[in-house]
Amino acid sequence: MHEGLLSLSDREFSLFQRLIFERAGISMGPAKRALIAGRLTKRLKALGLGSFADYHAYLTQRGNEGELQQAVDLLTTNETYFFREPKHFDFLREQILPKANTTRPLRIWSAACSSGEEVYTLAMVLAEHHAGAWEILGSDISQRVLAQARSAHYPIDRAEDIAPALLKKYCLKGIGAQQGSFLVDKPLRSKVRFESINLNEPLPRVGEFDVIFLRNVMIYFDMATKREVVERLVAQLRPGGYFIVSHSESLNGVTEILRVVSPSIYRKP
Ligand SMILES: C[S@@+](CC[C@H](N)C(=O)[O-])C[C@H]1O[C@@H](n2cnc3c(N)ncnc32)[C@H](O)[C@@H]1O
Repeated sequence: MHEGLLSLSDREFSLFQRLIFERAGISMGPAKRALIAGRLTKRLKALGLGSFADYHAYLTQRGNEGELQQAVDLLTTNETYFFREPKHFDFLREQILPKANTTRPLRIWSAACSSGEEVYTLAMVLAEHHAGAWEILGSDISQRVLAQARSAHYPIDRAEDIAPALLKKYCLKGIGAQQGSFLVDKPLRSKVRFESINLNEPLPRVGEFDVIFLRNVMIYFDMATKREVVERLVAQLRPGGYFIVSHSESLNGVTEILRVVSPSIYRKP
């Protein structure tokens, strides 16, 4: 155990396991014990609490929802980057966009979008290759990552995965105090919207989508949660719409509604 880390008893571990499962649908096995202790210790210290049991009691008290949100933020894994799993963006450009209806706006949802890289990647692809109007919704359970996504402001090393021509066309390089960062430019920002949505609960009214990206989040869910989440999302997909998961995920046994187009890409009949 690292210096300064408070210890988490078996009972305390199961309290937090249950909390994150009930709240976010995230299943944390025994291997996640150090992660829970490591990520939450600073909150206990900030609040002057002596044990994880005290922190759990604090989190579940009425009026402390803000702290509960912070705990959920700390327990989620938010890794993401621009043009992650680029084959999906090739598929969008080559297969989906040429056949898309241009008489109405094309709508894409990046559910569990983390800090927004997936959303702005989609925005660049649409701005470059879609003939009609479009809009993108990005959503996540973590307020912290959504704040970064809305700011559209990233450290310059995150730009490594963006083609230079796209970077030049759609992003502004920081100067002066902003040196070492870049901002996604207004024309793209104006077509994307971010909303706090917990996929583990009934969805708010979001409308229907032509394409839904649900990548790198199902790995944290058990089978029953996967089924419920996917069912909720598929209900928001237009007939003929595409549902895209990560290359390391699959919808085998998760839904009977979608048809496989190629591994990780599905379509609603
Ligand atoms: C690893 S990131 C994936 C980001 C992006 N889709 C990608 O593939 O790069 C997983 C995200 O899922 C979010 N998440 C976890 N449980 C969630 C839930 N129940 N509802 C909504 N978002 C959730 C986390 O906050 C995190 O930002």
